[in-house]
Amino acid sequence: MMTYTNFTLEIDSDAIAVFTWNMADRSMNVIDMTVMDDFENIVKQITTDDAIKGAVITSSKGDFCAGADLTMLGAMGQGFGKIMAEKGELAATQYIHDAGARFSRIMRKLETCGKPCAAAINGTALGGGFEVTLACHYRVAANDTKARLGLPESQIGLLPGGGGTQRLPRLVGAQEALPLMMQGRHMDADKALKIGAIHKVLPNAEILAEAKRWIKEEGNPVAPWDDKKFRIPGGVPYSPKGMMMWSAGNAMYRQQTYDNYDAQRLIMKCVYEGLCVRSFDAGLEIEERYFTALLKGPQSKNMIRTLFGSIQDLSKGARRPKGEPENKVKKLGIIGAGFMGAGIAYVSAIVGIDVVLLDQDNESAQRGLGHVSGMLVKSRIPQEKHAEIMGRIEASANGSLEDCDLVIEAVFESRELKATVLPKAEAEMKEGAILSSNTSTLPITGLAEYIERQGDFIGIHFFSPVAKMKLVELILGEKTNDRALAKAIDYVRQIKKTPIVVNDSRGFFTSRVVMTYISEGHFMLDEGVTSTLIENAGRMAGMPVGPLSLNDEVALDLSWKILQATKADMGDAYEPRAIDGILEEMVVKRKRYGRKNGQGFYDYSEKGKKKLWPGITDIVAPKDTGVGVEEIKERLLIIQALETARCFEENVLTDPREGDVGAILGFGFAPYTGGPLSYIDTMGAKTFVEKCVTYADKYGPRYAPTKQLIAMASSGGSFYGNAKSEKAA
Ligand code: NAI
Repeated sequence: MMTYTNFTLEIDSDAIAVFTWNMADRSMNVIDMTVMDDFENIVKQITTDDAIKGAVITSSKGDFCAGADLTMLGAMGQGFGKIMAEKGELAATQYIHDAGARFSRIMRKLETCGKPCAAAINGTALGGGFEVTLACHYRVAANDTKARLGLPESQIGLLPGGGGTQRLPRLVGAQEALPLMMQGRHMDADKALKIGAIHKVLPNAEILAEAKRWIKEEGNPVAPWDDKKFRIPGGVPYSPKGMMMWSAGNAMYRQQTYDNYDAQRLIMKCVYEGLCVRSFDAGLEIEERYFTALLKGPQSKNMIRTLFGSIQDLSKGARRPKGEPENKVKKLGIIGAGFMGAGIAYVSAIVGIDVVLLDQDNESAQRGLGHVSGMLVKSRIPQEKHAEIMGRIEASANGSLEDCDLVIEAVFESRELKATVLPKAEAEMKEGAILSSNTSTLPITGLAEYIERQGDFIGIHFFSPVAKMKLVELILGEKTNDRALAKAIDYVRQIKKTPIVVNDSRGFFTSRVVMTYISEGHFMLDEGVTSTLIENAGRMAGMPVGPLSLNDEVALDLSWKILQATKADMGDAYEPRAIDGILEEMVVKRKRYGRKNGQGFYDYSEKGKKKLWPGITDIVAPKDTGVGVEEIKERLLIIQALETARCFEENVLTDPREGDVGAILGFGFAPYTGGPLSYIDTMGAKTFVEKCVTYADKYGPRYAPTKQLIAMASSGGSFYGNAKSEKAA
């Protein structure tokens, strides 16, 4: 009798073997090396054991399987690097190809074992987990609305390498399969049934019996594509229908990704080429090769590190000071029930925190409460819970902060106003409670001077819209103590967001970097580059919007105000820039404030799309700069990466993970790079510095590489390698 590490086996009186997946010490089943060993043996047993007529694969956890163990994929990447260093690229490629293809080959053996196999999908089955079910001949899923099915690999720079790119399009057609895989979309069981990815949906208690019934009564052990009569749904690519689908699909891919995402491009290739060759096994070989290419390339490594590893580490509290007791917030005070205050009240109340929401008068406080209610209505939270959530929020002009263990100030961005609001709050708050400000620009150390208990004061910087944005930037003032930081991190975890911790600086980290992106757009205008080219280049580089569009969202008058405040604070040290005049023309002379008044770098209309404002050419005349789009794209990323490196060098950032996570979650820095510091590491500090030097000569000292970057360029160092120790030395 074979024994399994992660499965139990029961053979019933009908000779049906039920393999139940239940990994010890894991909340979810995943595919790791031990699971692959098990699957290899499972297939062997099904094939050779005469006492088995058919098999069911199911799970006794709440879900079926979450997909591949990403730490295993990370280890494969490291193995690749090691062999590369020792034996060269060919040996390393062979290694990663064999490791990557192993799972797919086992799945093919399962599919061709000669006996009927069914998957009883008792909950979520994603990635490799869903691929296991696709390799079975029959799939019945539980009608659990929370359960998600799908192939999300592209979200971390990979493709479904367990046969998914070949099986799914042969089941549901390329037109349905491509967006599911390229965008990594999940679906519920009903949708999967509707498109034909699974065979039946039933209450969870009935799926095992149904899987067994199918084996006994139908039990065809041949996959559709192994049947000679098989026709690809929707036709082959070189049919009239296929031709229309593929040319449109290709155009859509380019429009959505600007060809930045290797995984999405290679998923398309897998499906196109796989369906062209027709032979299923040849299709699997094509998939293996492209999977190898992705495993070898930098995108999957960077995306897995930042979007999976670092986000998870930081969300779990990687930066939480050790030794501070866990300290959940029971009652939260919010001063200022405006746009941000209402958002903060909403995200807190929905996780069970009591909220005291204050504003200068009752009417404003009630307006804030109205916003919370509006957000609830738009949310997916079931209506029967709304009253309870609203009941947790007490909105008024004079509520007491006495019982609050954390208070967040979110009044207008005015130093004078905050100077009166903060000490008033402190006087009401109990000993040991933490006070914070959601200021987006005012240094925390300066604000701390208005209060007595400066150690218990910290910056908690939310992003707009609060309900949607996953990042919270915590800012340490010079005197902020560990207790305040621990409490702030515990709070951010309570509201299910990801904290980064930065030291005080004008604009902290995220605003500082994003401002370089916006102002680079202004510099380009000043050079004579057209606004259309600037905006397109921004998106082509992988940013969610162009720099001018982003400035409209932030509001041009706000940028103008910040500029005035910076000038006033810096005095004679401020060096005027050619681009300061652009904002002055836009805001002061032409009252173009951005989206908020319907006119900025774009014109906005109630209906229809926003359009670039043609009048910009009266302020800065376009000319032929002779600079191509590639250079413009590159500058827009380099200027941000350089500012991030500067933040690291100035100790505003202390951990590269926070730079990368903060930039991607905070302002959408091109996700395929894994973040600005991963971007520099991937290019190599030497190349990055060379580019900076070239651009500094051409465009000015704002591109000058920093000391640490120059040192890294000559030592071969990197941010994820040794930058921390180099800085410490
Ligand atoms: P807002 O103008 O929507 O709300 C400010 C609220 O403060 C108003 O409801 C106002 O009545 C209230 N207020 C004024 N004086 C008060 C007082 N003495 N006591 C109690 N309440 C008072 O402003 P918004 O956008 O919510 O910004 C608030 C803070 O959050 C600012 O410091 C801003 O810089 C910061 N922030 C804003 C972001 C944004 O995208 N809007 C992003 C991140 C931070």
